[in-house]
Amino acid sequence: MKKELAWPQFIRNLWIMVGSRSRAHLRRPTWIIVLVSIVCVFLIVAYIYPPLSPSSSPCSFFSSQGCGGSLDVPPAARARELSDAEVQSRVVINEILNHHPVQTKTPKVAFLFLTPGSLPFEKLWHMFFQGHEGKFSVYVHASKEKPVHVSPYFTGRDIHSEPVNWGKISMVEAERRLLANALLDPGNQHFVLLSESCIPVRRFEFVYNYLLLTNVSFIDCYVDPGPHGNGRYIDYMLPEVEKKDFRKGSQWFSMKRQHAIIIMADSLYFSKFRHHCRPNMEGNRNCYADEHYLPTFFNMLDPGGIANWSVTYVDWSEGKWHPRSFRARDITYQLMKNIAYIDESPHFTSDSKRTVVITPCMLNGSKRSCYLFARKFFPETQDKLMQLFSNSTIF
Ligand SMILES: *[C@@H]1O[C@H](CO)[C@@H](O)[C@H](O)[C@H]1NC(C)=O
Ligand SMILES: *[C@@H]1O[C@H](CO)[C@@H](O)[C@H](O)[C@H]1NC(C)=O
Ligand SMILES: *[C@@H]1O[C@H](CO)[C@@H](O)[C@H](O)[C@H]1NC(C)=O
Ligand SMILES: *[C@@H]1O[C@H](CO)[C@@H](O)[C@H](O)[C@H]1NC(C)=O
Repeated sequence: MKKELAWPQFIRNLWIMVGSRSRAHLRRPTWIIVLVSIVCVFLIVAYIYPPLSPSSSPCSFFSSQGCGGSLDVPPAARARELSDAEVQSRVVINEILNHHPVQTKTPKVAFLFLTPGSLPFEKLWHMFFQGHEGKFSVYVHASKEKPVHVSPYFTGRDIHSEPVNWGKISMVEAERRLLANALLDPGNQHFVLLSESCIPVRRFEFVYNYLLLTNVSFIDCYVDPGPHGNGRYIDYMLPEVEKKDFRKGSQWFSMKRQHAIIIMADSLYFSKFRHHCRPNMEGNRNCYADEHYLPTFFNMLDPGGIANWSVTYVDWSEGKWHPRSFRARDITYQLMKNIAYIDESPHFTSDSKRTVVITPCMLNGSKRSCYLFARKFFPETQDKLMQLFSNSTIF
């Protein structure tokens, strides 16, 4: 289970290492002296940092964070003492959270598009943005091919991109890249992540007020006790990330500026997910960092600052591996109205009970409609959506 090698095995490995790298170049006596010195240094270090019992957290002098807490007290008997890296990380994060971001005259919402290539709904988004210049900005991270833009709101808005692999950490890296580029503009106060299959389900004014007049980020966050939730957790994330803090949620966030900044500041928790939340881990675990890093991070560091649901609607009710995708024949006035007026958000668990936990979308003590955007829509739906958008009152 534990990542660190047992001490005798470590010594064996060291022996092999020293042997294979140096034997050819050193005469035997020199080699023995080198080895004896290494073993001495090793023993001194081992004396200063005694190895831990198997029940305690994996932490040793190899780990960059070092050991937190006095080691003679069993962990169960005390609240865990934070490591240096954790203390430092919390200081920075709390400073940022307590420091209210500078309010610019006209705050903007940054729309961050994470897409493989061209955006099939650019015309629809153009219609959405039109007339609201100065209140939004657009950033496009195209991970496969250079997009062909049809709307001037999107032209020249491509940022530097890297390949993105589904379910891998490169997905989270692309999200961080989009945030970093958008943070460069101090006018951006709220940040929305969207995919190429996302559409708006409300008009711009509604979206703008909804996001900027609330003091929370919309990060989806819930406990899934099943194999696709807590089953993806692994003890290597200890001591910083405990199983009780592990959360799941859709990757499609919208967040406040101070939250985007703490993500830039975080390397401690991000590196835990980078190394230990991957597809094809030992024991057939498939962990997808884009579904766990942000929910877990915010649940640990600013639980009161997030709404716990995503403002991007998706239909999981069919219970399949992928959510429902909408085709042109599905697009009706009634469908769009239904989505726009939903005021409870469902969370599906993956355990044998397959429970659906339905929570009302509460903001500032009152129930609100949950969704501003929706996915997944086939490109063929665009014409119908534009028609509905241009002459109905639901949006
Ligand atoms: C939330 O409540 C506060 C104080 O009661 C008020 O100032 C603010 O405008 C409210 N926000 C929304 C979005 O209703
Ligand atoms: C947001 O505002 C509400 C009501 O005004 C307040 O109770 C809550 O503590 C605020 N949350 C944050 C994270 O500032
Ligand atoms: C989100 O959930 C956390 C913990 O479950 C809770 O502390 C927080 O108040 C919730 N957020 C809102 C806006 O209700
Ligand atoms: C408005 O809706 C009607 C049908 O309800 C449709 O015939 C018309 O083309 C729509 N207008 C636009 C501008 O799309």
